[in-house]
Amino acid sequence: MTLLKTENLTKAFGALTAVNGVTLEVQAGSLHSIIGPNGAGKTTLFNLLTGQMEPTSGRILFEGRDITGTPANRIAHLGIARSFQRTNVFPALSLLDNVWVAAFARGRSWRGFAWQQADRYPEVTERALASLRDVGLEGKANQLAREISHGEQRQLELAIALAAAPRLLLLDEPAAGLSPDETLRMVALVRGLKGRYTIVLIEHKMDIIMGVSDRVSVMHFGSLIAEGTPAEIQRNADVRRAYLGGVAVG
Ligand SMILES: Nc1ncnc2c1ncn2[C@@H]1O[C@H](COP(=O)(O)OP(=O)(O)O)[C@@H](O)[C@H]1O
Ligand SMILES: [Mg+2]
Repeated sequence: MTLLKTENLTKAFGALTAVNGVTLEVQAGSLHSIIGPNGAGKTTLFNLLTGQMEPTSGRILFEGRDITGTPANRIAHLGIARSFQRTNVFPALSLLDNVWVAAFARGRSWRGFAWQQADRYPEVTERALASLRDVGLEGKANQLAREISHGEQRQLELAIALAAAPRLLLLDEPAAGLSPDETLRMVALVRGLKGRYTIVLIEHKMDIIMGVSDRVSVMHFGSLIAEGTPAEIQRNADVRRAYLGGVAVG
């Protein structure tokens, strides 16, 4: 079943077409990676999917419904959650509070919200803790986000996205800026989420997505130039030549 579909999705910034006629189908339950060099248009594609930007033309269908032009706050309520390429957590809040806000925002209206009464929402707290558990940070729930390592902050950001109980999880370079060890840990976490969520994973490093992806789409100068299984993409001469600049991918 197709969960997400784009049809000829296009975003122009003046003379620059950052996303150019992208037609993409993401199957429910799959992990679909989008790779391509810096500037290919990957983050802009996410900005369109999450309503942060309106497309110049084209359509976005989620669960068969046309959601093109739906604002970001409504997109979140439809069950699409994203993580950002740059870490995006509240440094002065505890880890639990960071995920708690996301868990709460998903389920309810903010009317009547009282910070001091967080303990009156046990089911929200339970979902928040479960999200921290999913990324291995449960033991640090009461530490402040600024006190944990950069790698752990990226894991926290993943937990924030999970706390919203998404049907579609969009991850924008979750391993950006991480050390090799932290990268391995992040890849393992994402692999652990496979099957539980439909995931679209943006990466520019080929090796990261090869072991985890069901499908890979390759983006270059705003357009999709190839799509297939990781093995097919690895073999694809155009992809190797045009994108990877001769970097060994096997
Ligand atoms: N808000 C914006 N205004 C103008 N140009 C932008 C904006 N956002 C992105 N771009 C440009 O669009 C192109 C694609 O950027 P981006 O989507 O961030 O690529 P990627 O995530 O693949 O590295 C780049 O040339 C970038 O400079
Ligand atoms: Mg980007």
